[in-house]
Amino acid sequence: MTTRILSELSVPIVSAPMAGGPSTPDLARAVTAAGGLGMIAGALLDLEKFAAQIDSMRDVRFGVNLFLPDDPTSADVDAYAARIAPWFEKYDAEPGVLPRRDDFYPEKFRWLIHNPVPLVSSTFGTFDAAEVAAFHEVGTEVWCTVTSATEAAEAERNGVDALVVQGPEAGGHRGSFDGSAPEEPLDQVLAAVRAVSTLPRIAAGGLMDGFDIAPLLESGAADAAQLGTAFLNTTEAGTRQVHRDQLTETADTAVTRAFSGRPARGIVNEFMLDNSEDAPLAYPDLHYLTAPMRAKAGAAGDPSALSMWAGTGHLRARRATVSELMSEWAQQLGR
Ligand SMILES: Cc1cc2nc3c(=O)[nH]c(=O)nc-3n(C[C@H](O)[C@H](O)[C@H](O)COP(=O)(O)O)c2cc1C
Repeated sequence: MTTRILSELSVPIVSAPMAGGPSTPDLARAVTAAGGLGMIAGALLDLEKFAAQIDSMRDVRFGVNLFLPDDPTSADVDAYAARIAPWFEKYDAEPGVLPRRDDFYPEKFRWLIHNPVPLVSSTFGTFDAAEVAAFHEVGTEVWCTVTSATEAAEAERNGVDALVVQGPEAGGHRGSFDGSAPEEPLDQVLAAVRAVSTLPRIAAGGLMDGFDIAPLLESGAADAAQLGTAFLNTTEAGTRQVHRDQLTETADTAVTRAFSGRPARGIVNEFMLDNSEDAPLAYPDLHYLTAPMRAKAGAAGDPSALSMWAGTGHLRARRATVSELMSEWAQQLGR
């Protein structure tokens, strides 16, 4: 099975939406120009920046990713704030003001219906059936990020067109609906999803080049691949220098809730080691709580208190242009 957008790709590679800076319109545009699909990360942007990034892409094929809102948490965020207080002192930062839930999901959804785009994908949940129907009505294809067969079945019931199947190797947030962090490797998640759904699958997690992707396509496990970490060090990415530098060090990655309150894979640093065990499931509260500290650490080029999302393949993230990487990967895929 395929979809309208997937059938248009001469290279079945999607650039992962990477909220928080790494994704840029330049990156998305270059991936599309090379025959793939460039994604705009629609989360963590105010409405003005959201609209501007999308409108700058109107002449090419692209998609937009949204984080679906989590329910308010009952976790003890104050206790965690007290726990990490020394870190705020260290960076002379004030804790972020809580509660803040201002990713503007309803406004972004309405804007996308009035200003339709070729494709939307959701993360942290599935659009409900009415939302999917509203997107279809305006000609927008709909994908949903899933981390398990159960999530895949729910998304399919709601009418989505394809599934971004994310394995635990992936950099950044686990896209699970309930904030869990399933550990079955990508090939097992793909097989489990395939057993319950005939929807096209876009594989994500730990894929760093065409040789990694080819077996998934050849075996029918996946129809395309979504790569994040492999693009993090490209010329077109908006990744901070300190994050780029850490990618090529030998540091490990781990999954933590310490920065945002949802499990996410990033390069291990002191803040993560110090706080991962105590961090509650409380997204986006912890994201906003830690934001001023992360901003100060980032401005100082200090990696010890920054979230530096990266997948297990991070040592293979190359400094190159998107067009260089895409043409190499296309060759490896025989395209
Ligand atoms: C820095 C970074 C930011 C990310 N932000 C998002 C995001 O905004 N939305 C999303 O659906 N996935 C996000 N992801 C996860 C990717 O969609 C994808 O699942 C992951 O990059 C695939 O694994 P890989 O990094 O090993 O290629 C992010 C990943 C990284 C590395």
